[in-house]
Amino acid sequence: MLNPKMQEALNQQINAELFSSYLYLSMSAYFESQSLPGMANWMRVQAQEELMHAMKFYGFINERDGRVALAAVEGPRTEWSSPLEVFEEAYKHELKISGLINRLVKLSHEESDFATHSFLQWFVNEQVEEEAAAKLIIDRLRLVGDNGVAMFMLDNELARRTPMPAGGAAAEAAG
Ligand code: FEO
Repeated sequence: MLNPKMQEALNQQINAELFSSYLYLSMSAYFESQSLPGMANWMRVQAQEELMHAMKFYGFINERDGRVALAAVEGPRTEWSSPLEVFEEAYKHELKISGLINRLVKLSHEESDFATHSFLQWFVNEQVEEEAAAKLIIDRLRLVGDNGVAMFMLDNELARRTPMPAGGAAAEAAG
C-alpha cells in the first residue's frame, strides 16, 4: 500500500512523463516542418519511450493498491530556431527529469518505502542514458555547424532509431 505523500508524488511524475512525451512529439513535428525526417523519427521514438515511462508509473501505482489521478498536461513549445536549439532544450529537460527522479528516490527513502525505492532504480539508470543520448547529438550538431551535407548525413543516421518492440514496451510498462 502506498502512503498518500508517495502516491501524490508518483502521480505528479506520470504528468511529468506525459509532458515529456508531448514535448518530444512537438519537437518531432518541428523537424517534420524543417524537412529533417531522421530527427523527426528520433523525437517520435523518444515520445513513445516517454509514454512507456508514464505507463510504468501508472502500472506501479495500481500494483501497490494506490489510486492513479491524471491531471491536465501542459502545452509544449512549438517553435525553435535550429536543430541545435531543440536538442539543447531536450538535454535541459532531461536534466530536470533526472532531478525529479532524484527527489522521488529521496522521498521514498524518507518514507521508508523500499518497494518504491527499488522500483525507481530503473529510472535512475534510464536517466543516465537519456542525458547521454541528448548530449551526444548536441556534440554532433556542434561539429556539423552549418555544413548541409554533414547535417544530411546526421539526419540519415538518426532515421535509424527504431521503437522498442511492442512486446518489450508492454513488458517494461508492466514491470
Ligand atoms: Fe522519462 Fe526522458 O525521461
